[in-house]
Amino acid sequence: MIRFDVITIFPEIFRGFVSESLLARGQKKKIIKIALHNLRDWTTDKHKTVDDKPYGGGPGMLLKIEPLYRAVQSLSSKFKVQSSKLRRRIILFSPRGKKFIQADAKRLAKYSQLILICGRYEGVDERVAGYVADEVISIGDYVLNGGEVAAMAVIESVSRMVPMFIAKKESAEKFDHPQYTRPEVFEVKSKKSKEKILWKVPKVLLSGDHKKIKEWREKYG
Ligand code: 6GU
Repeated sequence: MIRFDVITIFPEIFRGFVSESLLARGQKKKIIKIALHNLRDWTTDKHKTVDDKPYGGGPGMLLKIEPLYRAVQSLSSKFKVQSSKLRRRIILFSPRGKKFIQADAKRLAKYSQLILICGRYEGVDERVAGYVADEVISIGDYVLNGGEVAAMAVIESVSRMVPMFIAKKESAEKFDHPQYTRPEVFEVKSKKSKEKILWKVPKVLLSGDHKKIKEWREKYG
């Protein structure tokens, strides 16, 4: 069982995501657990302030360290993890982080608790990356509004690497060759010439010749 604790100022973004399809099934079967936490619950002022202006000036606001620190402290002490090698990993999402790849999904699937901190606005006080988080992750070379979409990508890819999450182990990392299903021939009409066009499944896949099919898949994989 792996537990994901997501710290965000937009927990609602995750609601549908965590309650559909494989993630819902994985939670029902107690293979994974996804808990959503609103950062504002760890503020202490009347206005539940989570952000402030950057020192030295500049545009935009930064997420403050105090509520994030308190959130991580509280979620760390609340869930005791076994004293075995890999226990808890605290991850900050930022476009300045290390690029996330499949090997990271496999590596992180070995932990019992992942605390995922979603950055927002123009950034996060750098002391969170420096002292609070164990690692900083980016999902690619483009800028998102915040870490929420990145956290969803990580939750999904890590979950797929948890034993029993995907019924057929071979499908867990399957993205190796093109595939087709019925119909054998799909007919469309050309917009320009109004001619009939047939979109066909490659013949070799219908041949029943397993050696030839394997060769074709290797060639196009
Ligand atoms: Cl983790 N956060 C943001 N804001 N943008 C990103 C990202 C993360 N990864 C790629 N772009």
